[in-house]
Amino acid sequence: MKTGDSIDIGNGKKLVFVEMRMLHWPDSMATYLTGDNILFSNDAFGQHFAVEELFNDKADQCMLWEEAIKYYANILTPFSPLVKKKIEEIQGLNLPIDIIATSHGSIWRENPLQIVEKYYEWSQNYKEDQITVVYDTMWDGTKQLAHKISAEIARISPNTRVKIYNISKTNKNDIMTKVFKSKAIALGSPTVYGSILSSVGGWLEFLKELKYKDKKAAVFGCYGWGGEGTKVLRERLTDAGFMVVDAEAKSLWNPEEADFQNAEEIARALCQ
Ligand SMILES: Cc1cc2nc3c(=O)[nH]c(=O)nc-3n(C[C@H](O)[C@H](O)[C@H](O)COP(=O)(O)O)c2cc1C
Repeated sequence: MKTGDSIDIGNGKKLVFVEMRMLHWPDSMATYLTGDNILFSNDAFGQHFAVEELFNDKADQCMLWEEAIKYYANILTPFSPLVKKKIEEIQGLNLPIDIIATSHGSIWRENPLQIVEKYYEWSQNYKEDQITVVYDTMWDGTKQLAHKISAEIARISPNTRVKIYNISKTNKNDIMTKVFKSKAIALGSPTVYGSILSSVGGWLEFLKELKYKDKKAAVFGCYGWGGEGTKVLRERLTDAGFMVVDAEAKSLWNPEEADFQNAEEIARALCQ
């Protein structure tokens, strides 16, 4: 089967097939039912979310949209170029769509194309005026820097939404959704055995897999002697495709005045 192939199912209705290779599995396909104008979209446009009344217009809108973007941010971003191409291809088929029934999540029956439009937007290096600060710490020194950076962003750019998370205390998918929406992030870890905390290292591995594009980043963290942590963060964020700014806050033991000034420099560089 390839895109546009169809089979007759009686009553004058047909199933039309649309190839969706790697969205997000190699064998993914969508199926369109003529007459009823239903697009069975497989994983696309879905959520990891159950709506008791089944339909998008019955769902709590805040939860539905948060779950929809969370699904996109955590599952589909590596395939964003394919998403954009596929949407253009489906639009090119000129099929009237009254319902989008995904394989998991709510069924889109009220203005079903709204989720298609959102996917199109999300597939193109999406970002809002938001900055997310992410860190872990052993004795709260790195946390102090994180909070100073957040406070400075809020002071320098009051319209920018600032989010702050301790990696060990928040669901990693929720943090990733905030990063997806952000134009920049600041990432902090104390130095541990010449590197970074494994919680931050694991999260960075996930971040790299998601292939976010066109976002700035800054690094910070406390240390006791060698202080290799910020260098490791810098290298790994660059490897994950982030544009890492020069400003950084690297504090010997707990932060002092000069370190807080560096935190201010980070905020300034990320807001530019
Ligand atoms: C197990 C362990 C290993 C550490 N390894 C290093 C190291 O290799 N290099 C270094 O500069 N500091 C090292 N430190 C010191 C911490 O980076 C330092 O105490 C820092 O201030 C902790 O920051 P926090 O308050 O954010 O947890 C280590 C600390 C611990 C507990």
